Amino acid sequence: CKKYIPFQQIPLQNRAWPQNTITKAPVWCSVDLRDGNQALVDPMNLEQKLEFFKLLVDVGFKEIEIGFPSASETEYEICRALIERNLIPDDVTIQVLVQAREHLIRKTFEAIHGAKNVIVHFYNSTSTLQRKIVFRKDMDGIVDIAVQAAKLIRALTEKEVAQTGMNIRYEYSPESFSGTEVENSVLICDRVLETLGATPQNKVILNLPDTVEMCTPNTFADQVEYCIRHLQGRENAVISVHPHNDRGTGVAATELSLLAGAERVEGTLFGNGERTGNVDIVTLAMNMYSQGVDPNLDFSQIHHVRDVYERCTGMKVPPRQPYAGDLVFTAFSGSHQDAIKKGVDYMRTQNSPYWEVPYLPIDPADIGREYEPIIRINSQSGKGGAAFVMQQAFGFQLPKAMHPEFGAVVKAACDEAGRELLPKEVYSLFSREYLEV
Ligand code: KIV
Ligand code: ZN
Repeated sequence: CKKYIPFQQIPLQNRAWPQNTITKAPVWCSVDLRDGNQALVDPMNLEQKLEFFKLLVDVGFKEIEIGFPSASETEYEICRALIERNLIPDDVTIQVLVQAREHLIRKTFEAIHGAKNVIVHFYNSTSTLQRKIVFRKDMDGIVDIAVQAAKLIRALTEKEVAQTGMNIRYEYSPESFSGTEVENSVLICDRVLETLGATPQNKVILNLPDTVEMCTPNTFADQVEYCIRHLQGRENAVISVHPHNDRGTGVAATELSLLAGAERVEGTLFGNGERTGNVDIVTLAMNMYSQGVDPNLDFSQIHHVRDVYERCTGMKVPPRQPYAGDLVFTAFSGSHQDAIKKGVDYMRTQNSPYWEVPYLPIDPADIGREYEPIIRINSQSGKGGAAFVMQQAFGFQLPKAMHPEFGAVVKAACDEAGRELLPKEVYSLFSREYLEV
């Protein structure tokens, strides 16, 4: 989008931030229907999952993890419904998750039979903590679990591909990667790449999860970078990240890991997911967009995205959620309102090709939001705020000399009501003062 200045085009002396920045969208994979779904009080039913799947396709996701088909009959049926009802566009790959366990892997292959494009995503946990507390195995034992699973998956895939011509790709996650010694992560990932027969033409997705965020975002990015530098099979892998948000820094961790070389991101809309959630893909994508990078995802109808999300998950998007929250394009303070008004006037009169409006990181219209709610009027609003609403919402250009007088009328009404006024109430005051005879 031309409105936002790509970072590289900003003259060096005007750059307010250091040189290193994201210049290209990663491959996105939505895990809303799996990680997001498994964390809901009431998991989605078949119809809700199908509606959500359609939304994800419409937004532009090309890789969608649809569930864990070996985990329950419902999950299995959802996978079958998508395949048998022909609901998966040809350019979309469904992804299914499975633990590195034989019977679950076999069941997963039954579930995906007949799908055109599939990623079989298998995982086992590798962290020091899980090894000690849950698996009671040393690293060799953990590597063996992954290698045995990889062998079986490869064999089942070769059989299925020979019979049906399905396009099956592989993804491996060393779960709890961020709690694993980096040398051990490299070791297990290389063994899996080798076992699966990965090549530059047939890359395997290596997905590095920040299963529980346990350190600052730079440390996670350092762990990702270490793997990228030390993997022997680097050229045979797509490096993916799967950040959660336990420290509230999932977006930052993801952005830094992209700068460190990750090529693919798994996350969810609005950050739904286990505990504090997965990383929020809407924020990541819109952050890129605001710096002139095409995210390859379409959030131009954010209200619709939000509606479907809220209806299907039963979750609410908080009012201060970046880009999508009710309050995020709202200015309460007079000085902010005045600056926004000046910015909007400047854009109009100077015909500026770039978005240059203070306090609004993007033009709300780009995501289908209106100018009307940008300025709401309360007793702290300056005199310019009411005039701005009259202009933006109702097309009345009030002469400057009228601003103080009308501002005072509006302020008095706010004080009396003890709350902010809606634009239509501002209009009623204007009408009462100046239009009615
Ligand atoms: O958070 C996680 O580690 C996961 C894996 C199964 C990829 O969801
Ligand atoms: Zn997860």
